[in-house]
Amino acid sequence: MHTSQKWDAVQFHEMLVDLCEIDSGNHVMDFGCGIGRSLKAMLEAVGDSGKVVGLDRMAQPLSEAASQFIHEIEGKRLELVQADVLAAPFPDGQFDAVLCQNVVECMHEREALVAEAKRLLKPGGRLLLGHHDFDGIILASEDRELTKRLIHGFADHKQAWQDAAEGRMGRLLPGLVANAGFASVNIEAKLFVDLDLSPGTYAGDYVDWLVDLAPTVGVSAEDIARWTSRLSVDAAEGRFFFALPWIGAICRKQG
Ligand SMILES: C[S@@+](CC[C@H](N)C(=O)[O-])C[C@H]1O[C@@H](n2cnc3c(N)ncnc32)[C@H](O)[C@@H]1O
Repeated sequence: MHTSQKWDAVQFHEMLVDLCEIDSGNHVMDFGCGIGRSLKAMLEAVGDSGKVVGLDRMAQPLSEAASQFIHEIEGKRLELVQADVLAAPFPDGQFDAVLCQNVVECMHEREALVAEAKRLLKPGGRLLLGHHDFDGIILASEDRELTKRLIHGFADHKQAWQDAAEGRMGRLLPGLVANAGFASVNIEAKLFVDLDLSPGTYAGDYVDWLVDLAPTVGVSAEDIARWTSRLSVDAAEGRFFFALPWIGAICRKQG
């Protein structure tokens, strides 16, 4: 069985860049860039005459990003900045596009993040605010109750580096930007599907994350072992289904 909606991390970040219409020569910002998963596609889109800034408040992911893009940093096509997204050290109206993927749920001050991104945009500039909706993950499993507990537990679990956690952030994005004063807002939604649990699939990684989290959400070692072995049997017999929803708001500043 095949699906055209299969998760592919490289293609996903290219899609984000396409959605915020990044062009050759643009000056663009990755807000909460993490280890830099979007940076390659952003650098390709802006070309030699453009410039990319990756901003994150944590030193460790930034240094991982720096090690991947040594030449681009030396050539001043990429600048990595350690700062909070609520206080970006740049003047108003500098950027053609701000891309912000899977960052909003980590913060309490969501409206302030949107306002700060808007402040950075040139007139006519685009903000792409994107988020997976982790609470909306679809997973076929015989054990309905345990599966629900694991999915909801994972979605709302706050990791040490997050100030907040909100598993429904994808579905909350349209409401977040509705009254933020943009000239236009387009909402995009995608569903990424995996039909197997092979290593390297999003579903495979996700099931590993659920197993790691099981003790924290009060699921015993025996129950999680039974749950995962049943999933493996389902996968071997063609009954496995996993889908990850993603929502994006493309917000255009008044020209
Ligand atoms: C889930 S990661 C997403 C990284 C990247 N955008 C991606 O799609 O792979 C969230 C990132 O947001 C950063 N972050 C969270 N709150 C932040 C804040 N207030 N200011 C700057 N960065 C923040 C974290 O350090 C982390 O690297």
